[in-house]
Amino acid sequence: MTDQIRVLIVDDIAETRDHLTKLLGFEKDVAVVGAAASGAEALEMAATLLPDIVLMDINMPEMDGIAATELMAARAPSSAVVMMSVQGEADYLRRSMLAGAREFLVKPFSSDELIASIRQVHAREREKVGRMAAPAAERTLGAAREPGRVVAVFSPKGGVGRTTIAVNAAVAAASELGHDVILVDGSFQFGDVGVLLNLNPKNKSIAELVTELEAGSEPDSLDTFVITHSTGTRVLLAPPSPEMAELVTPAAIRRVLEVLRAKSELVVVDCAAAFSDSTLAILDAADVILTVLTLEITSIKNMRLFLEVAEQLGYPPDKVELVLNRADSALGIRVADVEHSIGRKVDHTVVSDGRSVVYALNRGVPFFVSNREAQVSQDILRLAQALFGAPASAPVEARKPAPKKSLFAWR
Ligand SMILES: Nc1ncnc2c1ncn2[C@@H]1O[C@H](COP(=O)(O)OP(=O)(O)OP(=O)(O)O)[C@@H](O)[C@H]1O
Ligand SMILES: [Mg+2]
Repeated sequence: MTDQIRVLIVDDIAETRDHLTKLLGFEKDVAVVGAAASGAEALEMAATLLPDIVLMDINMPEMDGIAATELMAARAPSSAVVMMSVQGEADYLRRSMLAGAREFLVKPFSSDELIASIRQVHAREREKVGRMAAPAAERTLGAAREPGRVVAVFSPKGGVGRTTIAVNAAVAAASELGHDVILVDGSFQFGDVGVLLNLNPKNKSIAELVTELEAGSEPDSLDTFVITHSTGTRVLLAPPSPEMAELVTPAAIRRVLEVLRAKSELVVVDCAAAFSDSTLAILDAADVILTVLTLEITSIKNMRLFLEVAEQLGYPPDKVELVLNRADSALGIRVADVEHSIGRKVDHTVVSDGRSVVYALNRGVPFFVSNREAQVSQDILRLAQALFGAPASAPVEARKPAPKKSLFAWR
């Protein structure tokens, strides 16, 4: 089979290598092309065998899995590393991701988990290569119109204002800029979007859309699944209970976003803060990741790590845009300090306005509607204009978002 996933196993324990080889031998779409007993041997074998996936043990004498992964990026850049470790600590995970690993499996893992991770990483890598190879014009070939843009609103830390910004920016785009917008609550377990917009939680959610898509039928219209808010913003809610969130797998998310961008001009996703598989699937699919931070040391530290991970994941520099929320609430930290610390400029700022924001939240009316003249609303409009540009019906030149600054070049 030519489209098998070629896997190289790296572990210093012979028994583990044999066990993994046997396990993977049962899968028709996987071929174990080699097994290395050390980091050095892995680098040599990877350079000649060019595997799609390297299944790497983290704890090995001499050169550990993290060091080998770092070198792998230069020797076999097309191979994606899946790290295996008995330690599940955040620091191991972080160091592995920074070294360039694409996935982290904590031993003992089931064969299902192993295979699913291999397939998932492989699919993601292929998609990435496809995206790099195919210019945008080619991707839209044959489409009735340009596919919509997906903007993910993310932050590596919770409680910084993602939902507030996602909701109000989507409302501004729909009500004032005239865009056809779908706002997706991507916080699948504990979504707040419905609360901010005072929407009926009994409405259908992404869980029903996933079920329908998995049954093999693509709906002609999204009307049964989305609620249209009075501002014209269409909303796809999160599942009503955390258990139902399990239906929304990374593969399902990819499919949902594909369908939404085919049927809408702009898809704004309010992401969860956790760096989960589901969130990664959204970030991968997004055209722009609007990343929110505040003037707090913890938020700044996490942002620095996220920017490093984004670079490791191969996201183009202009895919990430930074928004500093509550930008005027500095308690000893200045915007320039933040920029210096994270090594790049902040692209957008939104002022702090507890009165407007909390009043709006408690009434279930976005402040962009209830307090349109406030500075915080004007900041949101400026952000929406820069990020989303004019609607598709406008002349092509006017449709382009404002030129962006480079992400990693500014130091
Ligand atoms: N610009 C602002 N001015 C004043 N208060 C704000 C502002 N932005 C957000 N807040 C407040 O901060 C709190 C957190 O905001 P929000 O729920 O939007 O953050 P989040 O990142 O989505 O959080 P979570 O991790 O819970 O999803 C809320 O009480 C909100 O009203
Ligand atoms: Mg939120």
